[in-house]
Amino acid sequence: MPQEALPFPSGFVWGSATASYQVEGAADTDGRGRSIWDTFCDVPGAIVNGDTGAVACDQYHRYPADVALMASLGLSAYRFSVAWPRIQPDGRGAANQKGLDHYRRLVSTLLENGIAPYVTLYHWDLPQALQDRGGWPARDTAYRFADYAGIVHDALGDVVQHWITLNEPKVSSHAGYGSGIHAPGIRDLDQRNRAAHHLLLAHGLGLQRLRAGGGQLGITLDLSPVEPAGPAEDDVAAARRVDADSHGLFLEPILTGAYPPGLLDSSFVAPGDLELISAPLDFLGVNYYRRVLVRAVPDGHLRAETVLPPNTPVTSVGWPVQPEGLRDLLVGLSARHPGLPPIYITENGAAYPDVVGADGQVHDPLRVDYLHRHLLALRSAIEAGVDVRGYFVWTLIDNFEWAEGFTARFGIVYVDHTDQSRVPKTSAGWYGQVARSNAVPP
Ligand code: NOJ
Repeated sequence: MPQEALPFPSGFVWGSATASYQVEGAADTDGRGRSIWDTFCDVPGAIVNGDTGAVACDQYHRYPADVALMASLGLSAYRFSVAWPRIQPDGRGAANQKGLDHYRRLVSTLLENGIAPYVTLYHWDLPQALQDRGGWPARDTAYRFADYAGIVHDALGDVVQHWITLNEPKVSSHAGYGSGIHAPGIRDLDQRNRAAHHLLLAHGLGLQRLRAGGGQLGITLDLSPVEPAGPAEDDVAAARRVDADSHGLFLEPILTGAYPPGLLDSSFVAPGDLELISAPLDFLGVNYYRRVLVRAVPDGHLRAETVLPPNTPVTSVGWPVQPEGLRDLLVGLSARHPGLPPIYITENGAAYPDVVGADGQVHDPLRVDYLHRHLLALRSAIEAGVDVRGYFVWTLIDNFEWAEGFTARFGIVYVDHTDQSRVPKTSAGWYGQVARSNAVPP
């Protein structure tokens, strides 16, 4: 790293992130039950190319090599998720010891390599048996989650310090039960809103259960600065609605203990729910990918659509590259919420159409540039006073990108999905150098 490299605060955590269904594979191994994603992948047309996560990156078996890879890059943390259907194949009842043993082995291997585990308890793979009993729109699912969280914490609490209850609950509720583009593929506004509340309740009940055992506890939300596409009143109102759906529906109740007035039918919000939901957090996980620019759709239904800003490069999933949005988001959050807990960037990264070159290497200068610019923006937020403790690149290895299947490559390590071979991309070496030096080039 050249001398003029810009340092991060000492002790800053540099990691990578993945999620169980996206990388593990081994769908029928060691007593794992079915999840809503196994079911959804069987629906014709649900996933690009009919891809599934049944094999994914086979990390369930290949984790020793993947951990060695992280260690060789100099990363100090790994954020992964536990698959609920491995722990409770039917979503309730006694724990499946083989499932717990797997994660114990993974954590031991990480620790032997000096890598801190950051465990997400729910990254979208709900046991199918619980969906059959109503899924997230059913209140009982929140209680089942708390039981499951307690089982995992009892088994790993002595070796895992950092716990994330849920990953991006808005995507679980809105894409799973609203637009239906994710599992379980339901399109129903009432179910969507019930799901959102019960996910938050699951978080609250989970926190209560985990607090008894200790550790650093948080939740990961997908957050973006939301702005109107233009000055027209309709666009401004549409942007306000979109922001309310995300910031208002998730971050507000967590931080303030109240939903913004009029946002949610309160018939399914029971007394005491919001106290649980707003219990203190040790950290907030933030996933940042882009700004959201909103235009009203003139159809009389108060609909809004996200539009692309002019002259802005996009990644291969069509998301605009807007590093300064990360700084604005973080500075804005701390201004809006004085008691904001410390932040980890639990995801940030980009998909590009990477290929193995004639030299056997994968050159991804666009991803290096993306990471570089986002890290500079992050550093400037820290300099502006935002308390950020770590950064996790999404993602370690190219993996199953939900409805996009294997078409979107977000990894800093290339995966050949035909033979599971891994080739670190140029960005892996670059990011490793940042991690080892705790500094980013100017
Ligand atoms: C957010 C999700 O948490 C993760 O699972 C997904 O792959 C990335 N964003 C990229 O879309």
